Amino acid sequence: MARVVKRHRDQPYEVTVGGETQYICACGLSNNLPFCDGSHALAAGEPAGKLHWYDEDGERHEAKESFPGIREDQPA
Ligand code: FES
Repeated sequence: MARVVKRHRDQPYEVTVGGETQYICACGLSNNLPFCDGSHALAAGEPAGKLHWYDEDGERHEAKESFPGIREDQPA
């Protein structure tokens, strides 16, 4: 089953576990989930208020162009 999950952060969460600092992905683009691998850099410069998706080559696409009718509601 496929689904679209909207993410709004473009940087990881920093957490400390057992005295060790870890970075948890919050952008959804990491190839090493749940940990950040730096892929959030792809999201830099995303225009606000638009929904995007990234292909396997890391290229950004506007969801509305690829999926006509998709909701682009603003975050609450
Ligand atoms: S926050 Fe997702 S890859 Fe860094």
